[in-house]
Amino acid sequence: MATVLPRLEDLEDKSFDAFAVERMSRGDAEDPYPRLHELMRAGSVHEGSYRKMFTDIPDVQLGHMRQFMVVGYDACIRVLMDPENFRNHEVFKHSLGKSFGRTITVMDAPEHGRYRKVFQKAFLPQIVRQWGESVVDPVVDDLMGKFERRGEADLIEEYTHHFPFQVIYRQLELDAEQAPIFHKLAVAQLLSTIGAPQGAESTAKLGTFFQQLLDMRRANPGTDLVSHLATVEADGERLPDDVLTSFLRQLMNAGGDTTYRGTSVLLTCLLNNPEQLEAVRNDRDLIPQAIDEALRWDGPVTSTFRYTANDAEVDGTVIPAGSMVNVVLGSANRDPRKYENPDRFDIFRAKSVRPIPFASGPHVCIGQHLARVEMTRALNAILDRLPNLRLDPSKPAPAIKGYLLRVPDHLHVLFDPA
Ligand code: HEM
Repeated sequence: MATVLPRLEDLEDKSFDAFAVERMSRGDAEDPYPRLHELMRAGSVHEGSYRKMFTDIPDVQLGHMRQFMVVGYDACIRVLMDPENFRNHEVFKHSLGKSFGRTITVMDAPEHGRYRKVFQKAFLPQIVRQWGESVVDPVVDDLMGKFERRGEADLIEEYTHHFPFQVIYRQLELDAEQAPIFHKLAVAQLLSTIGAPQGAESTAKLGTFFQQLLDMRRANPGTDLVSHLATVEADGERLPDDVLTSFLRQLMNAGGDTTYRGTSVLLTCLLNNPEQLEAVRNDRDLIPQAIDEALRWDGPVTSTFRYTANDAEVDGTVIPAGSMVNVVLGSANRDPRKYENPDRFDIFRAKSVRPIPFASGPHVCIGQHLARVEMTRALNAILDRLPNLRLDPSKPAPAIKGYLLRVPDHLHVLFDPA
């Protein structure tokens, strides 16, 4: 007998435009880098909030904390590699903890390591490589089939904004017909950060859905990711249900939203530099370095956050205990002490220190290998199937925006139709 999947309930207010509200909450900051260079020149630690430099929208969740910004490569690494002094729980419980629940980003040692090692096993390079063909390619193929004969497209609206979310739905073997509701609730759950009631509503509805899915997979396990997570053990015990539902909520977002932004920025960079696009088209071995350079040049996550459990010193300045620390990854990746001519997008740049768009240390992104597989497949398909690809000069040029999570709204292109 075929199993019927649980249904994800839509928001009460079906007309609520989660995407527009989310875009507004990210602000319109076009280029945060001149300001980040100024800060780096002035020192590694500055009192104040990264967010407040770029938006007037009040921070309803973290506004009450004393805040510091840490800028520059070495200073960011110093914080990220010291989880004893710079912790996650006290800061993320107010933000991602509200949206996702008891997920690994909101945990500190020893709990963090115990659960993370179980989740991490499901996203090892040798595992996610296999998903390239079985999961990513069919999604990319389906989306591209809808516009490749037209000779023009908006690559954000029609391609990058959808494919990483659909990759997650396929991995979780969710009902494809419900994709628009999954996408909407995945984005809406983050809106607790601006006090929108649809944030908590989405968190609750995704939680109910994933609990039903876990129960169903446990009763009748398959080979899919949810069945694996529902039955796997950590130190001889099954993972608690609230940790599982929280991780799945985070996956909808961390896996989809960041990769959509990263792929959009990668395509924008290459289209803005046609000679580099041509080089990559002719030599696909250049793809890994094009991805690394795009994530360095304008990584989709410009800052992460920590909390000082004790007075803690960074580059000669003491940050008092009980403060929130904005660890500005975007500054590290444009640090002129590490990268020559850091504001230039150059896939041929001489190897330097490893950029940190996925952060570093014990909380480094679990999905970085999957993100690379997805970005590689998405770019290869474009290079294979859209000959003579170029920006559409009759439409506005792509503008990467947002102070925290960066992406252009549109990427209008022309190409020779298939
Ligand atoms: C270009 C794409 C991506 C970027 C730029 C990115 C960025 C990040 C960053 C900066 C962090 C660390 C935050 C911190 O230390 O505070 C992180 C953590 C995380 N990412 Fe990603 N991510 C991407 C794709 C993905 C994907 C595809 C997945 C899906 C598996 C994923 C799942 C996670 C999870 C679960 C964590 C939490 C890890 C922990 O706290 O131990 N990410 N990501």
